[in-house]
Amino acid sequence: MYTTAAKFLLLMATAACTCLSVVVVAADALPERRQNDAGGSIGCWPKERDALLAFKEVITNDTYNSLASWQPAGRQSDCCRWKGVTCSSQTGHVLRLDLWGMGLIGQISSSLLSLEHLESLDLGWNILHGHNGCLPEFLGSLKNLRSLNLADISFTGIMPPHLGNLTKLECLDLSYNVMQFTDLSWLTHLSSLLCLDLSGNNLSMALDWSNAINATPALEILFLSNCSLQSSNQLLTHINLTKIKFLDLSYNYFGHPIATCWLRNITSIQYLHLDETYLYGPFPESLGLMTSLFDLSFTDNDNKATMTVD
Ligand SMILES: *[C@@H]1O[C@H](CO)[C@@H](O)[C@H](O)[C@H]1NC(C)=O
Ligand SMILES: *[C@@H]1O[C@H](CO)[C@@H](O)[C@H](O)[C@H]1NC(C)=O
Ligand SMILES: *[C@@H]1O[C@H](CO)[C@@H](O)[C@H](O)[C@H]1NC(C)=O
Ligand SMILES: *[C@@H]1O[C@H](CO)[C@@H](O)[C@H](O)[C@H]1NC(C)=O
Ligand SMILES: *[C@@H]1O[C@H](CO)[C@@H](O)[C@H](O)[C@H]1NC(C)=O
Ligand SMILES: *[C@@H]1O[C@H](CO)[C@@H](O)[C@H](O)[C@H]1NC(C)=O
Repeated sequence: MYTTAAKFLLLMATAACTCLSVVVVAADALPERRQNDAGGSIGCWPKERDALLAFKEVITNDTYNSLASWQPAGRQSDCCRWKGVTCSSQTGHVLRLDLWGMGLIGQISSSLLSLEHLESLDLGWNILHGHNGCLPEFLGSLKNLRSLNLADISFTGIMPPHLGNLTKLECLDLSYNVMQFTDLSWLTHLSSLLCLDLSGNNLSMALDWSNAINATPALEILFLSNCSLQSSNQLLTHINLTKIKFLDLSYNYFGHPIATCWLRNITSIQYLHLDETYLYGPFPESLGLMTSLFDLSFTDNDNKATMTVD
């Protein structure tokens, strides 16, 4: 069985999500001459190297020695050659930081704000919740981010609305933290957001979730499995699925007859997972309108659903 994160990556690949596509660099930003400490050759920007070193500083445990190449001086001081760091070949600015699953324990330093050109930040599957456990609000100021993966970092507490400032964001993965979402209206500012995974968090108090989803205009991939979505009546009928292609609402207790709360406007949907949602009774005929569907999963629902085959 895939983890949600693996599934997400798979889907991002199959859906050809543009957030992983080649990064375009502004041609007008001709670099000033940059020098590394070894002298002479073009290296990374000193300000950005210092920011990354400050990030490393508050990593208390580097379990697999993943950041060994991150050195302040000598031959390894060009941060563009450090593990997990990708720079623009034209400007030398850091564009991506990929530290997924590197066994890092500690905090996330606000020094990352000096990486002003950062477009992709992946810190997923590390333990970086720091002392207070909360998702740091300053991440909402990394204004050029297109992709942000903070899956399984063990954030707790209330989800702050600040990520709503990341207006260029295309993919956001906050799955498998244990945060409470009280309000999702910040999502509606993310006009480019294509993929969203909040699985494993607690959305029971986010009563506006379906409105927020409907008002997030570009969304195509949505994973809300195991989110304690409450079985407010007719819930599923409120989601506007005109554009959604991938939807996972598994492991939320809905407990309605399928026929009374089935999804509407569903012609674009390709992937639909409703495992262990305790929906029951006959599937409506409109299932037949899902002409793009290639993956329907409906396991562990006590076998109380029926489907007629014509
Ligand atoms: C961090 O590393 C130290 C020393 O290597 C070790 O004793 C400690 O258990 C580690 N902490 C965690 C949370 O893994
Ligand atoms: C970011 O969002 C928060 C909460 O929505 C808001 O209070 C703050 O002013 C915003 N910051 C910027 C720089 O826009
Ligand atoms: C989700 O949050 C609600 C409200 O705080 C709480 O009652 C419920 O137990 C939580 N669900 C889980 C799975 O922790
Ligand atoms: C759902 O989330 C809870 C924690 O909130 C976790 O204990 C449980 O294993 C998860 N279930 C699934 C099927 O992922
Ligand atoms: C559903 O989304 C489509 C396309 O974005 C839009 O035209 C339509 O008005 C929406 N319907 C509702 C009820 O929000
Ligand atoms: C379904 O789509 C139609 C036409 O695009 C739109 O008028 C209607 O509001 C949509 N219904 C829902 C529940 O989104």
